[in-house]
Amino acid sequence: MISAVTCPAGQHLRALTHMVSGVQSVHVTSPNFLTRCPAPHQEGWGILFSHPRDFTPVCTTELGRAAKLAPEFRKRNVKMIALSIDSVQDHLSWSKDINAYNGEQPKEELPFPIIADANRELAVKLGMLDPDEQDKDGMPLTARVVFIFGPDKKLKLSILYPATTGRNFDEILRVVDSLQLTAYKKVATPVDWKPGDSVMVAPTLPDEEAKKLFPKGVFTKDLPSGKKYLRYTPQPE
Ligand code: BEZ
Repeated sequence: MISAVTCPAGQHLRALTHMVSGVQSVHVTSPNFLTRCPAPHQEGWGILFSHPRDFTPVCTTELGRAAKLAPEFRKRNVKMIALSIDSVQDHLSWSKDINAYNGEQPKEELPFPIIADANRELAVKLGMLDPDEQDKDGMPLTARVVFIFGPDKKLKLSILYPATTGRNFDEILRVVDSLQLTAYKKVATPVDWKPGDSVMVAPTLPDEEAKKLFPKGVFTKDLPSGKKYLRYTPQPE
């Protein structure tokens, strides 16, 4: 049922749907997912994140945190969708546990849909399986993969954690902030950057252009090499 993850009215998941074309047996928890896609003219980002298995401890903490942070992703115009190799029924039942873990009503609904890739078709196609983590039948589980798509429908970032290490969703939001800033401004974000910190002027931008583009000033750090490549500017609006 490929239509479950296609989003004809939206843009940002089209890259994903292109990748999964031909997949036969993917289902999703939210039947109204299609109607919640942005209109074609809207700029939207997308995040697809997989977890190894429903009803497991680390996954429960991760999806609980993702649910709590859903308003932050929405603010950034990032549509969320999760994936694992469990059934829709398991996803719905596990959603109650996740909501209870979050201290909320144990309802069968999360702020994002979960793809039920029970036959691992999508996981295989997207390289999400971790051969070292297996279920009781010796079948590989999905790793903790994150794919972020831009409004141009291209993959902007992928990260992969093993099953035994939970992700940091604050870091994923920070990455979204960096991806969105650097998509629109000629800057790059340095190590440990947080929104509001100074950023680096893109190395390809000539000094004269940088001065015009960043009226708050460009500050160059002197280095033993004499090369002027460490150019900072306050985060542009
Ligand atoms: C977990 O979510 O706790 C988990 C899942 C698979 C392997 C190890 C841990």
